[in-house]
Amino acid sequence: MTSRLITNIGELVTCDPSVGDGSALGILRDAAIVIDGGVVAWVGPAAAAPATDEVTDLEGRCVVPGFVDSHTHLVFAGERSAEFAARMAGEPYTGGGIATTVAATRAASTGQLRAAAAKRLAEMTASGTTTVEAKSGYGLTVADEVRLLELSRESTAETTFLGAHVVPQEYLRDRGAYVDLVAGEMLAACAPHARWIDVFCDQGAFDAEETRHILRAGIAAGLEPRLHGNQLAHGSGALVAAEFGAASVDHCNHLMDTDVAALACAGVVATLLPAADFCTRTPYPDARRLLDAGVTVALATDCNPGTSYVTSMPLVIALAVRELGLTPAEALWAATAGGAAALRRSDIGTLAVGSGADLAVLDAPSYVHLAYRPGAPLVVQTWQDGTRLSPPRGVR
Ligand code: NIG
Ligand code: FE
Repeated sequence: MTSRLITNIGELVTCDPSVGDGSALGILRDAAIVIDGGVVAWVGPAAAAPATDEVTDLEGRCVVPGFVDSHTHLVFAGERSAEFAARMAGEPYTGGGIATTVAATRAASTGQLRAAAAKRLAEMTASGTTTVEAKSGYGLTVADEVRLLELSRESTAETTFLGAHVVPQEYLRDRGAYVDLVAGEMLAACAPHARWIDVFCDQGAFDAEETRHILRAGIAAGLEPRLHGNQLAHGSGALVAAEFGAASVDHCNHLMDTDVAALACAGVVATLLPAADFCTRTPYPDARRLLDAGVTVALATDCNPGTSYVTSMPLVIALAVRELGLTPAEALWAATAGGAAALRRSDIGTLAVGSGADLAVLDAPSYVHLAYRPGAPLVVQTWQDGTRLSPPRGVR
């Protein structure tokens, strides 16, 4: 196995508070990292680095842990730019457009879906994402949900069964039958391909009782719960997430103090999706309120064709700093270690000895530039498990 030294790192963010400046970001200057067997084998001052087989000199650039995008709808067909334009002209977002994507996704060939997902994943990788969660939810038949999860599994182990995204048109007159399908035959077919179960528990989607029924069945089938909640209205998502000990409740635009307290008490991560708020022109949640209450906050793209056709975690970080009230340090932590917490992963989101060697190289002197220079393509290299994925070797 070849060992590699990545050296001459001007600023290294480890998200390991036991090293460097002692902050949550664990920052070292003039640093180096040794990668061996796909994991971080050594972290320290460049001047003290051990000898390795190969060396990469970053000429003073900044290194951060690879971004953990813990909420995406990666596999779908079609696009909804007309809906976006209508929204920007004053139409509200209701979730009604999901049916458009369901129809396009059902009609697409597996090859078309695979190619479309690969293109999005390549954008994510180029912008520094090294772990992605991917949900089903645009199939909503047994065969189509299985197909979406099988395709998702080609890219990630973090696959989520979201048969309970909305009630599809053919079941609108009998939603009980659809809930039973999701919790029964569809779950049984999908569980072998998924780690997580998710429900869109919100106004116009699924209510608390339906959500509980589906989560109970999912847990019995060996899946771990996470929820979409409190996006469109103040509903029960956060409280049900706390009740079930879900890993995360995502969106969190409409929270009461009792919701915030329940999340803190149950240790449920609040995953905020500011790109969805940006693209739906929705008021942003208050991240400070969550942090002050002791809730762990994560950031993710929510990449989907309706509310957030966004693949860039640097954009999400910039929005979180400008609009959610996070400092640049808190936002970077939420996009790396926070995402790892939302996925209950201790092997990613940090650059500590033993962590996966997943990292992004920024053409900037400091991670603060992620928020300070929104829109600039600062990520110049992405490494996953010690292998450089982006840009491909020889390109630069
Ligand atoms: O996370 N809120 C539910 N699902 C997606 C949007 C889906 C769509 O509009 O296609 C979300 O925002
Ligand atoms: Fe979502």
